[in-house]
Amino acid sequence: MRKPIKGFSKLSKEAKIEWLSDQFFDNSEDAINLLKHYWHEDPKVQKLHDEFIENTLSNYYMPFGVAPNFKINGELYTIPMAIEESSVVAAAAKSATYWLERGGFKTSIISTKKVGHVHFIYQGDAQKLQSFFEDLKPALLKDTEELTANMRARGGGIIDLKLVDKRSAMEDYWQIEALFETCDSMGANFINSCLEQFSQTLQREIKAQDHFNEAEKAIQVVMCILSNYTPECVVRSEVSCKVEELNGDAGISPEEFAQKFQRAVRIAEVEPYRATTHNKGIMNGIDAVIIATGNDFRAVEAACHTYASRNGQYSSLTHCEVKDGIFRFWIEVPLALGTVGGLTRLHPMVKFSLDLLQQPNAEELMGIVASSGLAQNFAALRALTTTGIQKGHMKMHLLNILNQLEATDAEKESIVNYFKDKVVSHSAAVNKFCEIRGIKSPSEIKKEN
Ligand code: MEV
Repeated sequence: MRKPIKGFSKLSKEAKIEWLSDQFFDNSEDAINLLKHYWHEDPKVQKLHDEFIENTLSNYYMPFGVAPNFKINGELYTIPMAIEESSVVAAAAKSATYWLERGGFKTSIISTKKVGHVHFIYQGDAQKLQSFFEDLKPALLKDTEELTANMRARGGGIIDLKLVDKRSAMEDYWQIEALFETCDSMGANFINSCLEQFSQTLQREIKAQDHFNEAEKAIQVVMCILSNYTPECVVRSEVSCKVEELNGDAGISPEEFAQKFQRAVRIAEVEPYRATTHNKGIMNGIDAVIIATGNDFRAVEAACHTYASRNGQYSSLTHCEVKDGIFRFWIEVPLALGTVGGLTRLHPMVKFSLDLLQQPNAEELMGIVASSGLAQNFAALRALTTTGIQKGHMKMHLLNILNQLEATDAEKESIVNYFKDKVVSHSAAVNKFCEIRGIKSPSEIKKEN
């Protein structure tokens, strides 16, 4: 049985790798070589990456691609995407070109407020606490003045402070709910620092109140933390055109396409099984840009899915309307993003991505990311309601299959050519590969080696 290790984080990188390869790999030399193979050749760059997290052993490559021709609010963008799924960038690029010829994407910011809470337990008279809180507000703002000075200079800061009675949800549970404007930064550290200061001010000031009894003064602050649910930090992106301008794919008329497409969106609005996959496709487009621009995709994922459930049932993030001969398709999503702070100036590829996007501010980035999600959903629904998803998906996946078979470049070229006008399946790709190699099954190659 393996023993736990003490003080792992204190070991040098080399010692960590050695311990790990000894413990978990039969061929420890191969394991060590693989990890080192992915080190950056410039030790300075490697050190930068090492220091992003604890216990870094190596780098984990992800493809970094771009989807050109995104017309958003009249500007042309080439959108950077970091993602491993083969068809995502191709789908984004295809939708971008489709809408380029039909007016492009139009975005608008609905609001940009972020929220955080001091969660606390108070056992006492509710009215006393409520009137104390009104008197406490100036002290809460004053005690955070130093923390908020820079943000206020940039036009942001604390927007509102509220006492929320949560006792119907949990015994003696109260919150200070604070709304923030964090301008071009995602603002998590700023918000959490303010909340922790609120907690100290609250506890200090309540102790100084003579008309509170000892039990009332002994409030317990359970925690102070921002919420990643940001229903007041929302962006909308929309595409629209005359129905007759929609080209009828795969032999269906523009009118039939519009109707089928609208029904597909409606199904995602009313059916959580479909909504989950529908929104997953949207997140393909959103996460890839979020990662490329150094933002927190887990925070955005969490917010989007809560937002998708805000009316009591998990539902679609996109919507479609066909009215008076006009097809309209739009997305509304909470996106708490930053273009300053965090990794934005540290990770060289993040810096590259933001430069490629012409240094957007947070609101512009929200519009770009939402448009990428909408484009992705359009591509998926367009395929699903016409040719089916597998045709395009398997074409993109073909190279993964051939790489698994260790096909040569010449074999790949010939097989990709062969499948240009045929439906790709795993077995059809393997059969074609075997035919070209003159073997019965791929296991023969292993035997030869
Ligand atoms: C695959 O990653 C995403 C799709 O399943 C999305 C959808 O079904 O809408 C194609």
